[in-house]
Amino acid sequence: PATTLQDIISHAKEYGFVFPSSEIYDGLQAVYDYGQNGVELKNNLKQVWWKAMTQLHDNIVGIDAAIFMHPLTWKASGHVDGFNDPMIDNKDSKKRYRADQLLEGKAEEYEAAGEPEKAAALLAKMGALLGAEKLDEVRELIIEEKIVCPISKTLNWTEVRQFNLMFSTQVGSVAEDSSNIYLRPETAQGIFVNFLNVQKSGRMKVPFGIAQIGKAFRNEIVARQFIFRMREFEQMEMQFFIKPGTEMEWYNTWKDTRLKFHKAIGLPADKLKYHDHDKLAHYANAAVDIEYQFPFGFREIEGIHSRTDFDLKNHQELSKKKQQYFDPELGEDGKAIGNYIPYVVETSVGADRLFLATFCNAFTQETGEKERTYLKLHPALAPIKAAVLPLVKKDGLAEKAQEIANSLKSSFRTIYDDGGAIGKRYTRQDLIGTPYCIAVDYQTMEDNTVTIRHRDSMEQERIAISALKEKIGYEVAM
Ligand code: GAP
Repeated sequence: PATTLQDIISHAKEYGFVFPSSEIYDGLQAVYDYGQNGVELKNNLKQVWWKAMTQLHDNIVGIDAAIFMHPLTWKASGHVDGFNDPMIDNKDSKKRYRADQLLEGKAEEYEAAGEPEKAAALLAKMGALLGAEKLDEVRELIIEEKIVCPISKTLNWTEVRQFNLMFSTQVGSVAEDSSNIYLRPETAQGIFVNFLNVQKSGRMKVPFGIAQIGKAFRNEIVARQFIFRMREFEQMEMQFFIKPGTEMEWYNTWKDTRLKFHKAIGLPADKLKYHDHDKLAHYANAAVDIEYQFPFGFREIEGIHSRTDFDLKNHQELSKKKQQYFDPELGEDGKAIGNYIPYVVETSVGADRLFLATFCNAFTQETGEKERTYLKLHPALAPIKAAVLPLVKKDGLAEKAQEIANSLKSSFRTIYDDGGAIGKRYTRQDLIGTPYCIAVDYQTMEDNTVTIRHRDSMEQERIAISALKEKIGYEVAM
């Protein structure tokens, strides 16, 4: 059977990957917690990305900037004025919706009913109205299309208004001397404001990149797709600083490099595609998404944007501090190049979306004779790399298995399990994606060999204990 999002949500909860936040209080919308296995998978994804960026590129270094930033940052970045979604309230249910998502939902209905022309026409009309900020006409369109509130089922809509997606909070002890600051809606700005600090202290030469992993916050309204759209999430971003005029070359290079990364961690080529942006964000002169085919369709997991000098130029203007790079090279004409504000190509992937894509892709249900459910995770991403299982607890087998587990522990995450029949123990590991199970039996006591069972093929082979470490490979080939 085809995997549904509900299958994914249930499995993630039952096996300790993702829980709804504050569940004992009935949860908090669009906020989630990672459990004992989820945190391992997510950490592994972050580590593989960090390595791909910083360790494998001589000219990329990392930073870890604060979530709180000076309020002018968000003025310069355009988020105070431009980071809005068009919202509409239903007067009966008192529920708020994103106007564009209501219209997109209607377009999906047309699509499903075999009327793709109607869907396309509606989306085009919506795009034009939103682009021109004709919000009254967006409301009229919603009413014309008879889009009712999913809860009250009425057409009793308020006007459409723009709402900013940034969360704000106060710093300072008392009301009078406190000031409003934002929780960052993207990690990128922490990189931009540190561009010269890193460039000078690291003697970096353009082209070079700065990578960062960290939390970002957006007050998203519609939240129906599990960890796909959250209010608190994690981004893995890299800003690549380049000479103006070379942006298309670097944009294409990063587009390529990032798609290869997703394939290297196990996402299949036929479930990945590029989606070029027709409508560009306020800062970009070229932009593409890498999309993954989730159970609910192809959706963005990563954005690659050519951001020009938009951010650094605005920071220079508002901070009154020069954001220029001195290029010591000579140009093609033999003359000194001198100072300029670099252009930037950015790669930005959501750790949670990459988690969801990886998890959906790994989730495998086999039917028929070999009926079982397992997570076909790349070994580098699996929460546990190896489980050591004594066939029985007596005759020294348990102690032997403990000893093997202890000898592997410092190399990779290994657990010991002696609870229940061996078949049940294999199943337990399959469900959380452990790639190798090591069984200790009576022969082990005689010749120091064990069987190693491979998760995907379920094949078993007999090998020497001393060969285990080498056998259990888990690097991502990049
Ligand atoms: N600095 C550029 C930037 O933030 P974006 O397309 O708004 O661009 C980049 O976000 C990535 O962050 C997305 O591709 C997605 O993976 C992730 N992301 C954005 N909003 C998210 C949300 N509400 N929940 C989870 N991930 C999100």
